[in-house]
Amino acid sequence: MKLRIAVTAGDGIGPEVTGEAVAVLKDIAAQGGHDFSFVEKRMGGVAIVHDGMPLPKDTLDAALASDAVLLGAVGGNEFNSLPPDKRPEGGLLALRAALGGFANLRPCFSFKELTANSPLRPEIVEGADILFVRELLGGAYFGKPREWNREKGIGYNTMVYTRDEVTRVARIAFQLAQKRRKKLTSVDKANVLEVSGLWRAAVNEVGKEFPDVALEHQYIDAMAMHIMNRPRDFDVVVTENLFGDILTDESGVITGSLGMLPSATIGGKVNLYEPVHGSAPDIAGKGLANPLGAILTAALILRYSAGLEAEAAAVEAAVRKVLEQGFRTPDLVRGNAQGLTVLSTKEMGAKVREAVASELLAASS
Ligand code: IPM
Ligand code: MG
Repeated sequence: MKLRIAVTAGDGIGPEVTGEAVAVLKDIAAQGGHDFSFVEKRMGGVAIVHDGMPLPKDTLDAALASDAVLLGAVGGNEFNSLPPDKRPEGGLLALRAALGGFANLRPCFSFKELTANSPLRPEIVEGADILFVRELLGGAYFGKPREWNREKGIGYNTMVYTRDEVTRVARIAFQLAQKRRKKLTSVDKANVLEVSGLWRAAVNEVGKEFPDVALEHQYIDAMAMHIMNRPRDFDVVVTENLFGDILTDESGVITGSLGMLPSATIGGKVNLYEPVHGSAPDIAGKGLANPLGAILTAALILRYSAGLEAEAAAVEAAVRKVLEQGFRTPDLVRGNAQGLTVLSTKEMGAKVREAVASELLAASS
């Protein structure tokens, strides 16, 4: 298996956690005789400082010439006064648009060992396993017109979708539901927004192709509550860009730390992989960051770009194993730390690699 991976580690904790994810991929390549190559490029705040823009052409070209892009995190408080398209986040949105992936898959699951970490009660979160499919290239993030007119004291964005933009992401969500528990929840605000009326009609239309998947609709406000009350009732959840941004951060509460959650964006020219967490500038460079979200993101590269399902599953099993063994990064310790071993970012990465190696050995013998 040959795979060219462009790595844009980005800002804050991005380089630390991405380094651990890349180390896992290198081990897997060495063990399985795969040819994975990595090219590192600047992106986000680090690129603003070095190159004067958040997404330099050289980075974009390398991303477009690769099979997969692995992104760490972007953003930093020092860039907050820049206009939106000049900020690190603007570079990320431009990269997403250029790569063309419109279906952002964000799995959210409860780890048995981390149930005590969630502020929700264990009996609520235990066994929760939701796959969010967030539409990534439309809605208010990209809609025009958009403006903040300071003189007139007015600002606006446009939440806009075409039917085709909805049907293509809905189809992916239905297909994923078919491979899981065959339930799809579509989230909108159709009681108020026209764009949501279109969304709902288009999802219903696609639903006719998938009679084996049970489809339900929820309003975004009610859904924000249901996810906290009864997360186990949901299987695949499809929603528009901004609602998906909000719901997936909220769902980090189920896992107990946003630092655990991976994502993969598919459907375009080049798949884009990024952990859900941000750049966490307050803990950057201190070895305190949790690399498990980035490592689980590497597992998604193996699954969706390399077609190495056994290896992807081995990485996921390895993460479960180190948690079972009581290893934690500081964000994963809440309250009583008895019986737990707190590790640095690098130490945690090394533990996972050890566990991956024994998973693969066990699978091959
Ligand atoms: C995310 C982030 C991004 C988003 C930011 C950094 C632009 O919050 O991936 O969820 O809003 O999409
Ligand atoms: Mg977000």
